[in-house]
Amino acid sequence: MMDWESLRDTALHCTACKLCQGRHHVVFGVGNPKAEIMFIGEGPGQHEDEQGEPFVGRSGQLMDKMLHYIDLDRSRNIYIANIVKCRPPQNRDPEQEEIAACMGYLRNQVALIRPKIIVCVGRIAAMTLIQPDYKVTRQHGEWIQKNGVWMMGTFHPAALLRDPARRPDAFEDLMSLREKVRAVCEHTPLPEKL
Ligand code: URA
Ligand code: SF4
Repeated sequence: MMDWESLRDTALHCTACKLCQGRHHVVFGVGNPKAEIMFIGEGPGQHEDEQGEPFVGRSGQLMDKMLHYIDLDRSRNIYIANIVKCRPPQNRDPEQEEIAACMGYLRNQVALIRPKIIVCVGRIAAMTLIQPDYKVTRQHGEWIQKNGVWMMGTFHPAALLRDPARRPDAFEDLMSLREKVRAVCEHTPLPEKL
């Protein structure tokens, strides 16, 4: 296992899969590495590739808005990363080979952060981290414990932008997350009024 700075530096120079070819930035992650809660998406899109930070496009703006509603903030009390750290061309799904090449970084990040809760944002993250045949529409909001970490999958904000009819379900997941944070996170106080 590498320390945080070596890990980050290694990732920023990584050429372990073909996604290195078209990238502008390796998107390592953002947030507080001491956070108790991690959000894990699928991979950078165009804006993330340009800016080097996860979830900064329209999807990211919606995600920030939802998280702020329960007092979670990337600058303070969460850490956000992706399954693959370089942008797949035309935003296609990452291939198994690319996921396999990149997973070591995420594993090492999780090992250093030691989160209490991991939220898998969207199908690819949930299939990779929870169960290979994960179905977001059926299983979103379900909690499972893996290696002592509470995990759930929820809708990708891009899906909520495409199909606003899913927003009430996503809101329920958010409320369930708030309950779980209250139950298992000692260092992430959420205001009583919420
Ligand atoms: N979608 C993702 O899954 N991750 C990002 O960082 C941005 C959009
Ligand atoms: Fe390396 Fe991951 Fe980028 Fe592939 S996607 S080049 S494994 S950092």
